[in-house]
Amino acid sequence: MSKSRWFRTAMPATLTCMGALGLGATALLWHPTTVSAQANTDMYVKTVQPILANNCYKCHGGENHKGGLQLDTKERLMKGGHDGPVIVPGHPEKSMLVALIRHEGPADDPKPMPPKSKLSDADIASVTAWIKAGAVMPD
Ligand code: HEC
Repeated sequence: MSKSRWFRTAMPATLTCMGALGLGATALLWHPTTVSAQANTDMYVKTVQPILANNCYKCHGGENHKGGLQLDTKERLMKGGHDGPVIVPGHPEKSMLVALIRHEGPADDPKPMPPKSKLSDADIASVTAWIKAGAVMPD
């Protein structure tokens, strides 16, 4: 094999390899946590959605939109309520929904959710973990 032939075949392969590595590293850096989008979606479907369906949909699902908020589809949940977005993916500490289910809303307008009861600590932890991992849900 002549030198120039080697160059023509090996160089593109090397460059492609380096490009793939670069993309991989970038994807890792961009990803907010180590949980994959698929695992995060599964978390929503198996754990979070049933919690919301059992405790919230009667006021925030279907025809019901108390506070201008509906929680039953991705579009509606991400849009938020009268006060804007209620979830900041990756940041439960900045998510109004988390403050309200922890019954830690602002003193002048506390809005504990659900209004007359409180989710179990395990349920609150599940919702918080899902938001922290990126709040991915099916469309
Ligand atoms: C009995 C009815 C009822 C249930 C059940 C309920 N909510 Fe609410 N929710 C309301 C009402 C009414 C408001 C508006 C309160 C206000 O504006 O002062 C509200 C407002 C909210 C808001 C603020 C919306 C905004 O933009 O201001 C969030 C977030 C919220 N609810 C989340 C939940 C979650 C999560 C659950 C279930 C864990 C839940 N709610 C269960 C009645 C309910």
